[in-house]
Amino acid sequence: MLNQRIDSVKARCLEAVSAAIDSRQLNDVKVRFLGKNGEFTALLKSLKDVPPAEKPAAGKLLNEVRVMLEGAFADAETSLRLAEKAARVERETLDVTLSRYDGKQGALHPLTLVKNEIVDIFLGMGYSVVDGPEVEYAYYNFEALNIPEDHPARDVIDTFYITDKILLRTQTSAAQVHTMETLKPPIRVISPGKVYRPDDDATHSPMFQQIEGLVIDEHITLADLKGTLDEFAKRFFSSDTKTRLRPSHFPFTEPSVEVDLSCPMCHGEGCRLCKGTGWLELLGAGIVNPAVLEMSGIDSKKYSGFAFGMGVERATMVKYGIPDMRLLFDNDVRYLRQFR
Ligand code: PHE
Repeated sequence: MLNQRIDSVKARCLEAVSAAIDSRQLNDVKVRFLGKNGEFTALLKSLKDVPPAEKPAAGKLLNEVRVMLEGAFADAETSLRLAEKAARVERETLDVTLSRYDGKQGALHPLTLVKNEIVDIFLGMGYSVVDGPEVEYAYYNFEALNIPEDHPARDVIDTFYITDKILLRTQTSAAQVHTMETLKPPIRVISPGKVYRPDDDATHSPMFQQIEGLVIDEHITLADLKGTLDEFAKRFFSSDTKTRLRPSHFPFTEPSVEVDLSCPMCHGEGCRLCKGTGWLELLGAGIVNPAVLEMSGIDSKKYSGFAFGMGVERATMVKYGIPDMRLLFDNDVRYLRQFR
């Protein structure tokens, strides 16, 4: 009686083992037969009800079948594992011979390259970079820079107004004012960014980029300005570049200067680029007007400073001898690719 049940459980168990298609199923089968409440375990438990005379034989048979079933499970487990591993290896194979994507790679725009290069030079001199808004209050773009209401620069012809008090900034000098309001001297910052003016020809664009520089400390003089910009020009153009200052006028600097550099094309000999003069105008600069310092809450008796504002497009055109600014904005990739 028990023997028949053992045979039947064994047969069904072996059948279920060979039908299992993965180790999860196999494990379920194992639980069903050999688990705590498994069918085969039930047979083991029923041994206690077998008459004493038959017990030894029944016990031996049960033990043999248990060993045999455990062996069958172990074998099946091994072969299923191997098969699963082989399948995974197959599935996860990486074909390293696949040809690479041969699409075009992008590059930074020449103006971005030049801006980064200029910023880098000033970072190397210990400056920090500050940002300012492009949509600006007239106060920051004009009043706080000593450009009063009736100044011709504030004419609607020269400025994109949004309301009478809000405009697109015409100069990164507006960022100077934010800087002076928030930082305490010593200040040494540059502020790159876009500015807007209603001009449009070969050397002017309604949107262009400037880099503003501002240094405020005790005992800052025009010599510091000249030394800084001379060093900048030597690093940005070439080590034999010379600079000169010419008197100029800006309401927010006093004295004001125009900084020229020896022509990078002819090195001062005189050529088409410098119109035979040997010099090219680079930027506007000057000693920060004490009135501007005071308006932003800086003690002009204790501190002085210099400021400069450089056009990124202008610097790019001078450096690479580009005759027309529009070449930089047309974004013809055949042209831009040369600057990579
Ligand atoms: N903001 C001036 C311009 O846009 C340049 C400048 C900056 C001049 C700082 C002097 C000092 O032309």
